[in-house]
Amino acid sequence: MSSKKVTNICCLGAGYVGGPTMAVIAQKCPHIKVNVIDLNKERIALWNESDLGKLPIYEPGLDDVVSEARGRNLFFSTDIERHILEADMIFISVNTPTKTYGVGRGMASDLKYVELCARQIASIATSDKIIVEKSTLPVRTAEAIKTILDATGKEGVRFQVLSNPEFLAEGTAIEDLHFPDRVLIGGEEDQDGQNAIQALVEIYANWVSRERIVTTRVWSSELSKLTANAFLAQRVSSINAISALCEKTGADVKEVAYAIGQDSRIGSKFLKASVGFGGSCFQKDILNLVYLCRHFNLPEVADYWQQVVKINDYQKERFAKNIISTLFNTISDKKIAFLGWAFKKDTNDTRESAAIYVADELLQDGGIIHVYDPKVSADQIHSDLEYLQRNRIEKSNDKLAFTIEDIKKRVFVHDSPYNALTNAHAIAILTEWDEFKTYDWINIYNKMIKPAFVFDGRDMVSKKEMEKIGFKVYSIGK
Ligand code: NAD
Ligand code: UGA
Repeated sequence: MSSKKVTNICCLGAGYVGGPTMAVIAQKCPHIKVNVIDLNKERIALWNESDLGKLPIYEPGLDDVVSEARGRNLFFSTDIERHILEADMIFISVNTPTKTYGVGRGMASDLKYVELCARQIASIATSDKIIVEKSTLPVRTAEAIKTILDATGKEGVRFQVLSNPEFLAEGTAIEDLHFPDRVLIGGEEDQDGQNAIQALVEIYANWVSRERIVTTRVWSSELSKLTANAFLAQRVSSINAISALCEKTGADVKEVAYAIGQDSRIGSKFLKASVGFGGSCFQKDILNLVYLCRHFNLPEVADYWQQVVKINDYQKERFAKNIISTLFNTISDKKIAFLGWAFKKDTNDTRESAAIYVADELLQDGGIIHVYDPKVSADQIHSDLEYLQRNRIEKSNDKLAFTIEDIKKRVFVHDSPYNALTNAHAIAILTEWDEFKTYDWINIYNKMIKPAFVFDGRDMVSKKEMEKIGFKVYSIGK
């Protein structure tokens, strides 16, 4: 394969990664035509909405990037055949959730969407293509993709498979894409592989300095992505573990995090104790890593990483159980107001959000939940809870399962925080939306049932100030 200059890119998957990543490539490379494809027609229609407030994902700064490039060299479409045919380079950016069935259920990544992409590309392509794994995948998936492409592709058509994992975080995706710490590209060591790597390097070099573009072997690149997420999540679980000890000993986790973070070998990032990490990736990627370790007969290594997820589950459960025990051991028919539902601020993504698990525990105890989140819809909140219930029925453990009708009778979603908080017995802060810091807490206190409890899962309010107003406050790690 020669090192042809790329002028046409296609991306399969217009989600939280495919959408923003391709929008930024199109913005920074006006000479390249970028087509983003999805099977989901509604999602594509929203990406094509003239009202930029209706884009399918909320991400600060995304609307500006999309408005600059869309219609110029950025296009969203469902026409998979045409765009695969035209593309020099095809990114696979589809979802890779944890498997919910069969071998590896609950642990391994479900690669069915990735495999389908490989089969679609092979059956359509009539010219050589560079395939780029953008999705997060288990180490050695590139090999499997290449096998499918070579076995089912048309005669004479050659494929190179690169690994180019994405490190953006939601809420800061555009900033992360504009100024990445590094771009990682893994490829084959032979000349064709190196040419393919170079073609992708040239795209990123339009806005990322070359020292920040790291090239490796393909398997190192795949494994680096899982490892990066495992290390980040491990830091959160480590500080959350210490938060429990702080609560028993009178130490303050914020002070401990600051003190250790000043050591340049430790560093200050990802040391914020919380109600538990959420998001679509940390848990999924660690479980995948654990699965791989078990597959390669490394039980000690598997157990080590599994503990990161266990501590996260412990932290969510501890938070919920503390609400119940503090409210005199029963929350039956008590109104608990949730501030925040998204898994972090500045995103409308709720996947694996701690709020879902805390709500579920409280529902088991008969609580009535009133939620306010500035970016998450009522439908999303109800369906998150229903999804958890469905999983529970599949696992058939002994907890109660609610129907969607039951959930709607017990979980109310508000457009205004004050409606959610009025007459509440307790407030639980689950997401760190900046606006929560600006609320009129005296007014809120006056509207609540006394004693008025606040359970701060995100270190959003000053315990001292709130106690002065009259609140009874629980803050993680204090
Ligand atoms: P997502 O669910 O938001 O988007 C995936 C999209 O792919 C969906 O819209 C789905 O309809 C589409 N799709 C599935 N099969 C398809 C096919 N054959 N052809 C065309 N479209 C298809 O997922 P996401 O959050 O964007 O994550 C995608 C991948 O990126 C995952 O592997 C994830 O681990 C990884 N990742 C995610 C993030 C993040 O912040 N969300 C960050 C880094 C890496
Ligand atoms: C994470 C990684 O940060 C990205 O590099 C990676 O690309 C992405 O996963 C992925 O592969 O999907 P993301 O999940 O979007 O990004 O957001 P983070 O900022 O990492 O936060 C994850 C969770 O950890 C959130 O619930 C957040 O509130 C929590 N967190 C984070 C803490 O509780 N404390 C911290 O100090 C940091």
